[in-house]
Formats: sequence, structure tokens, C-alpha cells
Amino acid sequence: MTISERVKNINPSQTLAITAQALKMKREGKKVISFAAGEPDFDTPENIKEEAISAINQGFTKYTASSGIIELKEAIIEKLKSDNKVEYILSEIIVSNGAKQCLFNAILTLCNPGDEVLLPIPCWVSYTEQIKFAQAVPIFINTRQEEAFKLSAAQVEEKISPKTKLLILNSPNNPTGAVYEEEELKKIAQLLLKYNLYCICDEIYEKLIYDEAKHLTIASLNNEVKNITILINGVSKSYAMTGWRIGYAAGPEDIISGMSKIQGHSTSNPNSIAQKASVEALLGRQDTIEKMRKAFDERRKYMVKRLNEIEGFSCLNPTGAFYAFPNVNGVLKRGIEYNSKKIKNSFDLSDFILKEAEVALIPGSAFEAEGYLRLSYATSMEDIKEGLDRIENILRY
Ligand SMILES: Cc1ncc(COP(=O)(O)O)c(C=O)c1O
Repeated sequence: MTISERVKNINPSQTLAITAQALKMKREGKKVISFAAGEPDFDTPENIKEEAISAINQGFTKYTASSGIIELKEAIIEKLKSDNKVEYILSEIIVSNGAKQCLFNAILTLCNPGDEVLLPIPCWVSYTEQIKFAQAVPIFINTRQEEAFKLSAAQVEEKISPKTKLLILNSPNNPTGAVYEEEELKKIAQLLLKYNLYCICDEIYEKLIYDEAKHLTIASLNNEVKNITILINGVSKSYAMTGWRIGYAAGPEDIISGMSKIQGHSTSNPNSIAQKASVEALLGRQDTIEKMRKAFDERRKYMVKRLNEIEGFSCLNPTGAFYAFPNVNGVLKRGIEYNSKKIKNSFDLSDFILKEAEVALIPGSAFEAEGYLRLSYATSMEDIKEGLDRIENILRY
């Protein structure tokens, strides 16, 4: 009874159950292979680490301005201008403890209780809970494997009501790897303008794209669209800096200022040393990104090919991020029995694969998408081969 309704409403991450179980098995001495990771397996590049060490040695270890240091905001402005062709000024930028905090601040700043937030699914695990925390209502829009898990403007329009406040767009997408193209973004943007809606675009996987895919931010379409967009990005995935906790948002001044107020009374500034290191990440040499991207690309091709060879799996070619997202309905239909229980959904299947093959992966239900599994290829090629062999073996007829 002491726990608030707000907190009671929030579901713990489903992925934690699998991750905790995998860790327990590892402690028991089992050789668990993990495809569960949401982070690059590479180390943070040396030039970035050196910048952090030098920040410590120079005593850059005090509080900074709550919304981030000017030097980093300027680096972000420079990056957005040269990479994304969109121009911002200092008051339109905030630096936070990861893109996750930016998203949290943005949703809390924009939503009143009862407001509706359009959320294409499959989607990353935290959006739904962050929306609920703001006492707003997630309105799911189902994207389909046949349409490469991409939203059409017609699907968006169908779900718009007088209470709709904003759309969350995540491209490249976690978990599907979908990357939106210019024409698709234009159609969605037209609709947002027509109905006076905001767009939060989460571009954290921007640099990890493959084949012919190109990353384009919706904010760069024109000034009108820029004025309704809160662009969110960070250094976690592109520079293998997940533990450093630096993300940033760019958007209209009043919204950024609202986000800064929340941050000022919750966490204050993100880590001072990590901010200095992030300046180097954004402005320093960029060749390490390409090395990492190439390695992911090779693993991606291998993993997708192998997944499609497993009977009952069908996996699209993901063109962004570092996840494969196979449809496993063909296996679920077989009604395999395990521990005298039928494997009837993605959670049961991931549990079976973990216990029997000692391979950890995430059930689609964690992403509001039953009938799928998410496998991260941010792990060594050796583990990918071995892990897929094991999955294939236990699912053989
Ligand atoms: C789609 C998406 N957005 C945001 C984040 C959070 O990133 P950060 O480490 O910058 O908080 C993640 C991390 O997994 C993610 O997958």
C-alpha cells in the first residue's frame, strides 16, 4: 500500500528475467552464449579514453551546468550540422545521462496525464513504461514483417485522436533493424503537421547502418518539421560508450528548457569527465566507427543467413542497429513440449533455448511483438557460430 500507483503501474523489464537466469547459469559454471546484449562488444576507442584521463588529471571533476557543458553542446551542434544537415543553437540542446534520460525528460515535458503517444511496435522496451510513468497512454501501431516493420502514414492517421500528443519514431530501429527512407519520413511528417503533433525521433543507432540504407533525420526535412521534432541521439552505441552515460537532445527551446528543469531537479549534470570524452568522440577521429560497423555487418549477414536456414524461422534482412529479429511462429506452431508444458509463445521458446542450448536471447514479447525473438550480433563471430549451432540442434525435428 505504500508504493505509489505510478510505480505500481510500471512493469519491470522482461529482459531482466532472461538476463538474470543466464547470469545464474554462468555462475554455476555453464558455458552460456549471450545474444541478449544491447551494447557493442568493442572497447571505447583510445582517443576518447585519453580525453577522459586528461579531464581527470586537469581536475575537471566538479558539477557542470545541469544541461551540459557548452563545449559539448557546440560539438553536438557541429555534428548535427555536418552529419544530419540540421542547424541548432545552444539553447536548443541538452546533454543527459544517456539517450534514455533524454527520452524520459522529453516525454515528461510534453505529456499531460491522459495524453496519447503513438508508438510503432515492435519497439524498444523502455518507451512504453516511460509513457506510463508520465501518466500518458501508449497507443500501439502494429508494423508488419511484410512491410519491413515500417509504419505507413495511413496507419498513423488511423490511430490519431483528439488526445494524441506525439509520435515516437526510432530509426534505425531496435529490435527490428528497420531504417526509414526519405519518402516514408516525408509522408509521416506531413501528417504530424496536419494534426499538430510532436515527434520524438530516437536516432541512437544512426551510425550502424548497412547495405544501401541511409540515415536521415526527420528534423532535416524542413523548418516546420524541425519545430515539432525532438531529436535524440548519444554516444553509447556509435562509439561503444554505453557505460559513460552521455546522450543528447535537440529541439525547440521551450521543450529543451522544460527538459532541463526536470534534469536540474533529478540528476543534475551528466558526468563531467564523460562529457569531455564525448567532445572527443564527436569531433575527433571517426575511423573506429567504420571498423566496428564493418564487423557488425559481417556478423549480421552470417547470422541472418543461418537463422533463415532453421526450419520455422524467417528473418528479414535488418539494415540498421545490431539485432536480428526472426519470426518464429513456424516453431511455435509445432507445439514442442518442454518440461511437460507446450512451448506456446516467444517467452517459453527463449526459456527453452536458454535452458537446453545455453543460449540467451530476448523474446519478442519484451518488444510488444509476440512470435519473434531478438538476437544481438554484438558478440564475437565464434560465439555467433557456436550459439546458432546449438539453437539449430535443439530445434531439429
Ligand atoms: C532504441 C534505444 N533508444 C535508447 C537507448 C538508450 O541509450 P543510452 O545508452 O544512450 O541511454 C537504447 C539502448 O538500448 C535503445 O536501444
